[in-house]
Amino acid sequence: ELKQVTDNVAHELRTPITRIRGIAETTLNSSADRNEFREMAASVIEGSDRIIEMINTMLEITRTDSGVAELVRTSLNLREIIREAVDLFKPLAEDKNIALQLEIPPGDILFSGDRSRIQRAVANLIDNAIKYTSSGGLVKVSARSHPTGIKVIIADTGPAIDEKDISHIFDRFYRGDESRSTPGSGLGLSLALTLIRAHGGDIFVKSSPGRGNTFTITLPGPPLPS
Ligand SMILES: Nc1ncnc2c1ncn2[C@@H]1O[C@H](COP(=O)(O)OP(=O)(O)OP(=O)(O)O)[C@@H](O)[C@H]1O
Ligand SMILES: [Mg+2]
Repeated sequence: ELKQVTDNVAHELRTPITRIRGIAETTLNSSADRNEFREMAASVIEGSDRIIEMINTMLEITRTDSGVAELVRTSLNLREIIREAVDLFKPLAEDKNIALQLEIPPGDILFSGDRSRIQRAVANLIDNAIKYTSSGGLVKVSARSHPTGIKVIIADTGPAIDEKDISHIFDRFYRGDESRSTPGSGLGLSLALTLIRAHGGDIFVKSSPGRGNTFTITLPGPPLPS
C-alpha cells in the first residue's frame, strides 16, 4: 500500500519536472536571446510553483489523514462560510458564463470545526463544479441543517462523470480522461474528502447523464445550541 502510494507520487512529480527540464534544455541548446531566456525563466518559475503547491497539498492530505495536523475547531456559522465561498467564485463563474446560485434557508447553520479547512473543502467542490461545467450552465450551492447533521450540496449541470471514473475521483492524482484538457493535479477531491472526514463527515457524489453532478458534504450533528 505504502509502496504503491510512493510509486504514484514519484510518477506524478516526474512528469511536470521533466516538462520544466525540457523547457530549460531547449532554450539552453538554442541561440536564444536575452528575452527568450527571460521567458524560459518565467516558465520554470511558474512550473516549479505548481509542483511546490502539489507537494504542499500532498503533505496536507497525509498530515490530516494521520492526525498529525490537528484541527483548530471554533464555533462556525456555515451560512457565512458558504456565502463567502460563493462570493469568491462569482468572478470565475461570470467569466465562464455560468450562473452560480446560493440557496440557504434562513437561520444560522452552526458547526464546531476548523474554519480554513472547511472553507478549503467547500471551495474545492465549487471550483470543480465551475471548472467542469460548460458555458451557459448552472452551479447551485445549498446548505441545510437537520437534527442529525448538516448537508452542503454543490450541484452542477455539467456533463455527468463517466461511470468508470466515479469510484476513483477521490483517489490522489486521479483525473477523468475528459478533464485532461483542463488544468489540475487530481488532488482537489482527495484533500476535500480528507478534510471533511477529519471532521467526522463524508462526501457523496451522484452523477447522471443529462442531470449533471451533485456532491453532498455531510457533517455530524447535532448543531450547537444558538
Ligand atoms: N463537478 C464535476 N464535474 C465533472 N467532473 C468532475 C467534477 N468534479 C470532479 N470531477 C472529475 O474528478 C476528477 C478529480 O477531481 P479533483 O478535484 O480531485 O482533481 P482536478 O480538479 O482534476 O485537479 P485539482 O483539483 O487538483 O486542481 C477531475 O479530474 C474530473 O475528472
Ligand atoms: Mg479539482
